[in-house]
Amino acid sequence: MPAIHIANLTKKFGKLAAVDNLSLDINKGEIFGLLGPNGAGKTTLLSMLAVLMEPTSGEATVAGHDIRRHPIDVRKSIGMVFQTGSLDSLLTARENLELHARLFGVPKEMRQTRIQEALELVELTDRADERAGNFSGGMKRRLEIARALLHHPQVLFLDEPTVGLDPQTREHIWKYIKALSRQEQMTIILTTHYMEEADVLADRIALIDHGKIVQLDTPEGLKRQMGGDRVKLVCAKACSAHMLAALKKMPFVKSIVQGDGHLELVVQNAPKHLQTILHAVGEVEEVHVLPASLNDVFLQYTGHEIRNESAEDDAQAQWAAHR
Ligand SMILES: Nc1ncnc2c1ncn2[C@@H]1O[C@H](COP(=O)(O)OP(=O)(O)OP(=O)(O)O)[C@@H](O)[C@H]1O
Ligand SMILES: [Mg+2]
Repeated sequence: MPAIHIANLTKKFGKLAAVDNLSLDINKGEIFGLLGPNGAGKTTLLSMLAVLMEPTSGEATVAGHDIRRHPIDVRKSIGMVFQTGSLDSLLTARENLELHARLFGVPKEMRQTRIQEALELVELTDRADERAGNFSGGMKRRLEIARALLHHPQVLFLDEPTVGLDPQTREHIWKYIKALSRQEQMTIILTTHYMEEADVLADRIALIDHGKIVQLDTPEGLKRQMGGDRVKLVCAKACSAHMLAALKKMPFVKSIVQGDGHLELVVQNAPKHLQTILHAVGEVEEVHVLPASLNDVFLQYTGHEIRNESAEDDAQAQWAAHR
């Protein structure tokens, strides 16, 4: 049985179908990414699965429990980190965790151990008695993840887990998410509009746009659908006609664009064919192999890019620079 089963799920706000007849199965222990632009319907989908919002039509089960018929059982099986923070800023980190443990019925004798474990996991043990309101954005996010784990949920929902965080903190949180999935065999479904986040973390990714899944595959599978990797050949002087002719004969070279002193190719499985290419074209100054990005894939299927807000582009550029 899948950890999450979704069949023809729809949520309408007036005429707008925020989630549009969506079907999907997510396996136990999988990290599943929902990648899509603002307004794609990611939060709406999670809200229905977390029984915070009623579907207009369709069905879903989470950890085997039907979201309409057994909402309480669903609640007990899940942890949720919301897109907009939901900590009590006047309480300390520990008090926030205690409150949540009580709400979720963690037995009294287990509470302190669970809280200690959760604090250690996100490396906040020595800050536990400070007010959450004084924490940095990254610390708040880590505390929210700790809180979502207190009742040992089978399924964890993370809505934009690292939005607005700096690159180092983002990578730090990625590390926790990976570790949780490995150590606890937890099923994790995360939404993001950072393509690198989905790429690094997810076992499978659904590209989502206008409430629908436009494509679903592993990150590698999605990029393969681009038809190949991008290869740039920089020629010593000008690239020769002989080079072009040789490349055009190769079935795995899907496209060739001539630039000033270089050629840009789309090559199916470039690591495998690179040697053949270089052998045929002879001397080149430089070779760059650039894997297709998920943004390229998204663009191919939807005609537009994943990100459309300049603030996020800035964060992305910063992240790229960091790498
Ligand atoms: N309570 C609501 N009432 C009316 N419309 C809503 C409501 N919640 C969401 N919507 C609309 O549904 C669509 C999907 O919104 P949703 O929040 O699910 O997108 P998202 O993919 O999470 O976007 P983001 O990346 O910005 O968080 C949007 O057009 C949004 O305006
Ligand atoms: Mg959202």
